[in-house]
Amino acid sequence: MKTIRNLLILTLILSCGSCKNSKFGRGLRGLPENPAADEWYLDAEGFRKTIDGKKTDLYRLSNDAGMEVYVTNFGAVIAAIIVPDKEGIPGDVALGFKEVEGYAAEGDPYFGAVVGRYGNRIDGGRFELDGQVYELPINEAGNDNQLHGGPKGFSEMVWETGELTNNSIELSLVSPDGDMGYPGRLELSVRYTLTQDNALEMVYKAVTDKPTVLNITQHTYFNLKGEGRGNILDHELMLNADHFTPVNQRLIPTGEISPVEGTPLDFTTATKIGKRIDDDYEQLSFGRGYDHNWVINAGDGGLNLAGTVYCEETGRFLEVLTTEPGVQFYCGNFLDGSLTGKSGGSYEHRGGLCLETQHFPDSPNQEGFPSTVLNPGKEYYQKTVFRFSVK
Ligand code: BGC
Repeated sequence: MKTIRNLLILTLILSCGSCKNSKFGRGLRGLPENPAADEWYLDAEGFRKTIDGKKTDLYRLSNDAGMEVYVTNFGAVIAAIIVPDKEGIPGDVALGFKEVEGYAAEGDPYFGAVVGRYGNRIDGGRFELDGQVYELPINEAGNDNQLHGGPKGFSEMVWETGELTNNSIELSLVSPDGDMGYPGRLELSVRYTLTQDNALEMVYKAVTDKPTVLNITQHTYFNLKGEGRGNILDHELMLNADHFTPVNQRLIPTGEISPVEGTPLDFTTATKIGKRIDDDYEQLSFGRGYDHNWVINAGDGGLNLAGTVYCEETGRFLEVLTTEPGVQFYCGNFLDGSLTGKSGGSYEHRGGLCLETQHFPDSPNQEGFPSTVLNPGKEYYQKTVFRFSVK
């Protein structure tokens, strides 16, 4: 009897040890070989902190097709996207940090975050609305612009966690009147939903009590080989856009809407990102590579295809759909190997790419661009979808 009991205890101890192993050690880039429903890929404890007097946490969304998405309420960050490759092997395709502190640290290049109030740049951190000039804190030193909502934008805030189910989560925040220089008390929410067909849907809603400007985007860096597995120059990109908005040296749009035809920015047919990235072309030298806003070919005003990304090595295929008129394709030109990612490796130059669905940069100062003004009594609405499959 005693021997059987001892054997049982030994088995328990051993199986517990392997649980721990599979969580952090074995399998593809730290993933368990077969992640069971009760095994978490990221360590939730590293996300259970208090920042600005508010609790942060980690949440997991899953579906029956083997996809998992991890979300933290700090910055509404997507901390991991685990999706099978063509062999059915799961891998994490989103760059990020192991603990919440990484996202709160100064050097975080907006990994996975929701960016606001204004995604991308506002020239000189200054705009005029209804005859009044608003001065915003500058956080892009060299260029003297405001970038991504300023030093404490939505990506740096702890969001409230609302309704949570197995496959969806709602996060919200209140941005007070004058927050980062912007007028109006803004109430914003995002709902992330993981569908059974491996799509991560994002729905954003916002209201204001004074006229303001708003441009929300999602800043996930994708690497379809798996995060930390080299650069994305071999990924094939298609952008559903015949035009882009050229920039000046300070990465502020000139106001023109130019055809991509005949330039290295033409991704109307799927092309390897690395193919023309070093071409002698002024826009590429201003962006140090691709860092531009493409004008999505207009559909019916509903959910339109912004672009697709394909990785031959893993067969993973990503489609991005959105109700927004533009998409900023940024290919991680400022990553330089100095950041250590979730699986312990460093994120090299161009180790991830972003497809930031949005209104155009600097719209508050550009009469010809679609308006980003939000008035009281109107609801801001955006839907964007990251849909995964294999080919
Ligand atoms: C911008 C880049 C910037 C990056 C990270 C992108 O949206 O266009 O210029 O370096 O975000 O901040």
